[in-house]
Amino acid sequence: MLSNRLVGLAEDCYNLAVAVSHLRVAVFAGSFDPLHMGHADIVDRAIQIFPKVVVGILNNPEKQGLFTPEQRVEMLRELYADNPAVEVRAFTGLLVNFLKEVKATIIIRGMRAVSDFEYEFQMALMNRHLWPQAETVFLTPKGRYTYLSSRLVREVAALGGDVTGLVPDPIRARLEEHFGIHAAVD
Ligand code: PNS
Repeated sequence: MLSNRLVGLAEDCYNLAVAVSHLRVAVFAGSFDPLHMGHADIVDRAIQIFPKVVVGILNNPEKQGLFTPEQRVEMLRELYADNPAVEVRAFTGLLVNFLKEVKATIIIRGMRAVSDFEYEFQMALMNRHLWPQAETVFLTPKGRYTYLSSRLVREVAALGGDVTGLVPDPIRARLEEHFGIHAAVD
């Protein structure tokens, strides 16, 4: 019957649209404790390639961070509030399960230097082993951000150093608030 064929066709179209949209959602996963300019640069690059980028913040109950996962989600949601292509969510457990949850197959990772390679390569292959559809895409940040890491940013901020230009301004404000740093008045 014609109506059955039309229903079948509509289903095929829907499945195709879903399959295509799954392919195009990318997850930029990390601890982001805190997010720094290198991370922000990777997000900017990722949204030039993928229509939707989910920033996935690992909630690791065994590791106490500087900011709680809830605080990190709040900070990043504020940062990307005006960008509909970016969604911010926390996740626990395996990254590949989070990918399935948000209907993504792409993992974005930033690659700063050769020293990142081995760890990143192992993770990419492990994720592919766990879920063969998971594809890792490596993006490189601007050269001037390649020395940045969240660990160094935390250390500098904790010791009262100036993190202007190392993290987006709203994150700097949160770091200063956290460490009780007040801007010097001449
Ligand atoms: O900011 P980081 O520490 O480089 O991020 C690492 C992260 C969160 C991407 C990684 O630790 C991760 O994916 N953790 C989830 C647990 C998991 O899936 N492990 C197996 C694959 S390596």
